[in-house]
Amino acid sequence: MTKSEPQKTSIETLLHENRKFKPQKKLFNNYFLKDMSQYFKLYKKSINDPLKFWEKMALEHLDFFRKWKKVFSWKDFKAEWFSGALINVSYNCLDRHVITDRKNKAALIWEGEPGDIRTITYQQLLLEVANCANMLKGIGLKSGDKAAIYMPLIPEAVVTMLACTRIGVIHTVVFGGFSSSSLRDRIQDSNCKALITADGGFRKGSSVKMKEMADEALKETPTVKAVIVVKRTNEKVNMMPNRDFWWHELSQKYSDHCEPEKLSAEHPLFILYTSGTTGKPKGLLHTTAGYLLGVTLTAKYLFDIKEKDIYWCTADVGWVTGHSYLVYGPLSCGATVFMYEGAPLYPEPDRFWKMIAKHKITILYTAPTAIRSFIRLGKEYPQKHDLSSLRLLGTVGEPINPEAWIWYYEVIGHKKCPIVDTWWQTETGAAMIAPFSGVTPTKPGSATLPMFGIEPLILNKNGSNSKEGGFLCIKKPWPYMARTIYGDHERYKKTYWKEIEGVYFTGDGARRDKDGYFWIMGRVDDVINVSGHRLGTMEIESAAVEHPMVAECAVVGRPDSIKGQGIVAFITLKKSATVNHSLKEEISKFIIKQIGALAKPDEIRFTDALPKTRSGKIMRRLLRELATTGSISGDTTTLEDFSVLEKLRESDEE
Ligand code: WT7
Repeated sequence: MTKSEPQKTSIETLLHENRKFKPQKKLFNNYFLKDMSQYFKLYKKSINDPLKFWEKMALEHLDFFRKWKKVFSWKDFKAEWFSGALINVSYNCLDRHVITDRKNKAALIWEGEPGDIRTITYQQLLLEVANCANMLKGIGLKSGDKAAIYMPLIPEAVVTMLACTRIGVIHTVVFGGFSSSSLRDRIQDSNCKALITADGGFRKGSSVKMKEMADEALKETPTVKAVIVVKRTNEKVNMMPNRDFWWHELSQKYSDHCEPEKLSAEHPLFILYTSGTTGKPKGLLHTTAGYLLGVTLTAKYLFDIKEKDIYWCTADVGWVTGHSYLVYGPLSCGATVFMYEGAPLYPEPDRFWKMIAKHKITILYTAPTAIRSFIRLGKEYPQKHDLSSLRLLGTVGEPINPEAWIWYYEVIGHKKCPIVDTWWQTETGAAMIAPFSGVTPTKPGSATLPMFGIEPLILNKNGSNSKEGGFLCIKKPWPYMARTIYGDHERYKKTYWKEIEGVYFTGDGARRDKDGYFWIMGRVDDVINVSGHRLGTMEIESAAVEHPMVAECAVVGRPDSIKGQGIVAFITLKKSATVNHSLKEEISKFIIKQIGALAKPDEIRFTDALPKTRSGKIMRRLLRELATTGSISGDTTTLEDFSVLEKLRESDEE
């Protein structure tokens, strides 16, 4: 596979894909569901009477301090699930396991990039979380306050998240790869009172200076009164007296006992920022009981997590996948979670496979981008290691092309592990469309069928059912959806519930085949998906036009055989601009400084003008075509469904 190979061929193969893989019962016959008829029966029940279903699931899967009075209400697009109930997330993820035989079971097995290993049992994790919760109280945080977490992927990140939930503090985790400006914007938007960070983290053999980045952001975040710093890399850092505290020193001052607060079911749990169609990222707010129910149920049924599993989700806690499937879902299920700090290919391209063999990992959940980069490196790396412990493979974040699916199935799973392709979003909180492992027959490239209680629709703009491809929507509110965009409920209503009146609008295009299987075709809005990371084209454009020489900028996604999509920026320069050979490089660096390395354009093109409609909207369709094929040739796509996707997008340009 070469980098320039257009991914249109993948979409083409996706549309013509008709292989079907039946689950191999004999290999592992102890799945939570017996067979497909049980799935269909339960699914039907869950759709016919969703409230009864969710109520039953909540009783079976979560521990409440007090039961709810009302299962669900929905007013002015404000959902309340299980209102009247009292619950605590850290109690469900820790205390309830510690009073069972799981007490001394490993909750976390962590490997740092340099190779250091830490194993933390449920009992130990509870003590650390309680101690951290006391530290948070000590620096002045109380229930309802917000705290930002900007950390490498080390156990303290998980400890801090759970400690927040123990005392009702709302966390907002900012991915460590984001720049100081991005961190600043998020802290400002959510009014965080404290920041928990580290001196640095290890990545590709060198250390990333996180405290230094944080200091830059903290210059403009007057709401932050205290900073706790974990010593990870031994980086020399500046500590501001009376504001900055070393974790290891502060923790000595506090006990490791802290009662979990009895919080209401709708108590805000976390705010997580994600890109939308405007320049400003949205802070999605998730709440307590409904979210916990979603991640617990899906972790159990989709990943089939069992007592003896060692489960590894490769996502960073800075993304929703890390929240739901590295921390809350698996720990609520009492699983042993594996966690790795560093870069996937460091020091050698076999790092992942080496760790799977060493820790005997049984379930692996990763992104198509990672799989495609492994394909490019060759089979010899996974083949050097004994991967026979693996029994289930998951994928998430972007459409997986059938080639990558088959490679994952054959080379990593040795044709014995079911592939669980999970479709969901930051907004949906947990998986929505995905196979039930070992039960649902799978098709390479399809996320298959919906989760219980979830009713996906494929609609036209006017809300009628679409026979070909259309907008993927969800018919009714569900317990684990985001409740609002922090500080902007109007935007929440408009973006998700009013685009097509009365249903949840996902922003994805999809089609459904004759077996009822869903095939996700990608975003229909101005959001692009680079290596499974969601970026708003407007966000990058706003960053670019801040550069003194840039007049206008239009960003589009271009198919990329490894990253899914690459970033192409079309730029018109100011008349006064002096063009030299390093200007593109300079603009690129400028964008990275503002957003983070993940927003680095793959290509910058200078142009005299940008194509626009009469009403002045940029014609992205033309730019996308130009970026993809190198030329514009009118209506080139003969592929029916592919052109449907373009048509869906085009309605924006009218
Ligand atoms: C967007 C959401 C879900 C956690 C990670 C990303 C795309 C996600 C799949 C999949 C096809 C997928 C969609 C979605 N996406 N999973 N299995 N197949 N597309 O969360 O950053 O909120 O991005 O990722 O386009 O809308 P996110």
